[in-house]
Amino acid sequence: MNVFGVDIGGSGIKGAPVDLERGDLAEPRHKVLTPHPATPDGVADGVSEVVRHFGWSGPVGITFPGVVTGSVVRTAANVDKSWIDTDGGELLGDKLGLPVTVLNDADAAGIAEMTFGAGSGRKGVVMLLTFGTGIGSALFHDGRLVPNTELGHLELNGHEAEKHASTKVKDDDELSWEHWARRVQKYLEHLEMLFSPELFIIGGGVSRKADKFLPLIKHVRAEIVPAQLQNNAGIVGAAMAAARR
Ligand code: BGC
Repeated sequence: MNVFGVDIGGSGIKGAPVDLERGDLAEPRHKVLTPHPATPDGVADGVSEVVRHFGWSGPVGITFPGVVTGSVVRTAANVDKSWIDTDGGELLGDKLGLPVTVLNDADAAGIAEMTFGAGSGRKGVVMLLTFGTGIGSALFHDGRLVPNTELGHLELNGHEAEKHASTKVKDDDELSWEHWARRVQKYLEHLEMLFSPELFIIGGGVSRKADKFLPLIKHVRAEIVPAQLQNNAGIVGAAMAAARR
């Protein structure tokens, strides 16, 4: 069965029909730029453009880069603040005229990785982190998600972790891989102290370059692996969430 998945990110809105048996895109994804400011109406137009590109009619799963309870957006760290308390499910469902499911972006990526990727079959505490515009987190115990953990906002060296160790900060401040890896290492050590995961899965676009920084990370007891679905994990997880609903 195919279900449509959309991933709303700080820089792009991308989506594609997803083959749920294979856990992969059924067609090459289509991407539009995230509008700035990323207001609810502007983002909804972008989502609509992506879905219409495929002439899709059917259920749609959509990730959002903030806390989502039910279908209501509760936080908006890297998109326009007018999202807060917007019923994303209602807004996007009305815009598309299709049944939609909205969930946190890192949770979606985690759901996909736990089924089709680096976390498949893994028991115990598993933590997926996405490094991008912000830092997203998805926490699993024996394969079950604890939603909306928001661990990118933990304090690290007097800063919010995502303002210190996201890949946006790496790019903006032109940090070397060594410099950035030291920050990521501190962050992982802190998470390990709090949650003792058995496995960290490192996702987001940077997972493609895992060989540049994972070997630099030491002093973390847990196993650390790159995400396998890389940048498509959000799209796949969104479609999986819509299918489950
Ligand atoms: C948001 C999270 C999101 C992460 C990655 C953070 O700023 O608060 O909800 O998962 O960015 O997009």
